[in-house]
Amino acid sequence: MPVVVAIDGPAGSGKSSVSKEVAKRLGFGFLDTGAAYRALAWHVQASGIETDDAASVVSSLASFDYRIGTDPTGYSVHVGDVDVTAAIRDPAISAVVSRVARVPEVRTHLIELFRGLMAAEPRPGVVVEGRDITTVVAPDAPVRILLTASPEVRAARRSAELVGSATAAVGDELRRRDEADSKVVDFMTAADGVTTVDSTELDFEQTVEAVIEVIRFTQPVT
Ligand code: DC
Repeated sequence: MPVVVAIDGPAGSGKSSVSKEVAKRLGFGFLDTGAAYRALAWHVQASGIETDDAASVVSSLASFDYRIGTDPTGYSVHVGDVDVTAAIRDPAISAVVSRVARVPEVRTHLIELFRGLMAAEPRPGVVVEGRDITTVVAPDAPVRILLTASPEVRAARRSAELVGSATAAVGDELRRRDEADSKVVDFMTAADGVTTVDSTELDFEQTVEAVIEVIRFTQPVT
């Protein structure tokens, strides 16, 4: 079994980009679990199903052909033969993804999928990021981190990514999504044994280094 580095945190905390960079530097795999929830929301919409129709969302799991590699340098997400890497980042998907992620059968299905991908990881370790990795998906992981940042900093970072979006509007969207998502799993407080890395005052490089330092504290990585 590879060394699992579990990283949770709210939207816009920089989890994905930081986790991917950490994985690259350590020669580890990278698994973005939020991408799976987003890909399912895409699949549900592409199948003509309303995202708040939980029963139909559950039925759609049978035809959800999710394909993701864990190579941090050539990362892409496919549903069947369709490359949805860019489409799942669309604000239209961000707006509805919580509706599919809150369905218990969806979570059970995807958690099994994540555990299968983790177990099959060919590299010596894998960085897995999401909302419930430190608590539900991999509570026994040797490294567990909560990556946070103030709401203002998260909104500013996300609006810099979404060219042309006002920070206030992006802040509203993040708040709304965090509120909906935290009804399902608590990713704002660190569970027992989880190390908090607060990136509010850190730039990207400093955050990557802070995460690697936490990993080095418990793991003999170079
Ligand atoms: O990290 P992200 O913004 O790409 O995540 C997309 C959505 O998926 C988010 O609104 C919450 C949900 N999610 C979840 O419920 N559990 C996870 N482990 C990862 C994401």
